[in-house]
Amino acid sequence: MMKMRSYYNLNTAILALLFLAFFFSKPTLQTSSSSPYPKYPPPPPCQRLVNAYFALQAFKRSITSDPQGFTSNWFGPNVCNYNGVFCAPAPVDPKCDTVAGIDLNHAGLSGVLPEELGLLTDLALFHINSNRFCGTLPKSFTKLKLLFELDVSNNDFSGDFPSVVLNLPSLKYLDIRFNNFQGSIPPALFDLKLDALFINNNKFKSSLPKNIGNSTVSVLVLANNDFQGCLPSGIGKMGKTLNEIILMNAGLGACLPEELGLLKKVTVFDVSFNNLVGKLPESIGEMTSLEQLNVAHNKLSGEIPASICSLPKLQNFTYSYNYFCGEPNKCLSLPAKDDTKNCIPSRPAQRSAQECQAFYSRNLVDCSAFGCQSKRWPPPPPPKVSRPPPPAPKKPVASSPSPPPPVYY
Ligand SMILES: *[C@@H]1O[C@H](CO)[C@@H](O)[C@H](O)[C@H]1NC(C)=O
Ligand SMILES: *[C@@H]1O[C@H](CO)[C@@H](O)[C@H](O)[C@H]1NC(C)=O
Repeated sequence: MMKMRSYYNLNTAILALLFLAFFFSKPTLQTSSSSPYPKYPPPPPCQRLVNAYFALQAFKRSITSDPQGFTSNWFGPNVCNYNGVFCAPAPVDPKCDTVAGIDLNHAGLSGVLPEELGLLTDLALFHINSNRFCGTLPKSFTKLKLLFELDVSNNDFSGDFPSVVLNLPSLKYLDIRFNNFQGSIPPALFDLKLDALFINNNKFKSSLPKNIGNSTVSVLVLANNDFQGCLPSGIGKMGKTLNEIILMNAGLGACLPEELGLLKKVTVFDVSFNNLVGKLPESIGEMTSLEQLNVAHNKLSGEIPASICSLPKLQNFTYSYNYFCGEPNKCLSLPAKDDTKNCIPSRPAQRSAQECQAFYSRNLVDCSAFGCQSKRWPPPPPPKVSRPPPPAPKKPVASSPSPPPPVYY
């Protein structure tokens, strides 16, 4: 009993001193001979942990529901022992520990993110996926100059795109998918030096910014939003970095750009469930890394280009629910393919003759009428000189401490 009591007193003393350290300047505290706790000299006050204490207490107060008691040990000055809080030596002051990571994934928490979180200026990781946080990201996040991974996916955040993320110079991994963000996407998002971007399953509207190709990401998931208009031709500028692009059910219309052929590293390309029209660009046959290609559930027509079905790594080509009228035999021998519900003569499970006739009797699609094409296409053929292969792209997603959940859409 006595032991517990003194332990409690010690904690109280340290806590009180940390408060004093916060409110008064250090010299005053050290020269003061009238300290009320002479027997318990404080640890050297590391201002960062004092700030973290205030930030985390404010965070705890703004949590309205914690059914699993995840934050039940969030009291006292020892913030590095709090559930979900990770400390490391401060980069600019290695003698002092600082809060470097917060991971509250799947903690069942409700509430909002308070402005005080901006006090965690050394934060590198902030993962709160799969909770029920609402509101938006605090403006004070601009102070998180070291923030590298931000994952607020699968919550109830709403409002406009959280533009505060545009001011995070260290940000590499941004995941805001499965929330209720709405409005337009700021073009500056695609000028950031990100490695992965997930904004799928929100309520974004408006067209995709023309500078989308400025993005440095290897994974881009925009699915399940309501972007209108075309996939900008500038997408071809991502040829050196892009590995996966998921545009399923993204509200896209118009024709696919010829510049897709420049995406030599893309392994997964999914534009299913949109309103795409016209032919499949022959240039898709130049996406030499392609393994999974899904263009199903659009209004595409014409013949499937033979070059696509000859892609060396293509495993699965899904083009059902369109109006294609022909496919080379090569397509039938792919490891996996789905050509049903098209207008391909002699193939099973196609659309009815009337449906196909009605479709093809309408005016032919003029892709240039959408105003989406770049005027400089076709680009000059690549030089035939043999060169060493370019350096492998960074793989931030694989090496990230807490990998994203596997579900994309
Ligand atoms: C992004 O792309 C646009 C044109 O699409 C260009 O004018 C601009 O300079 C680019 N910005 C950056 C930061 O690269
Ligand atoms: C091929 O891709 C489609 C669409 O993504 C998927 O539904 C299907 O299961 C895949 N087939 C195989 C054999 O992997």
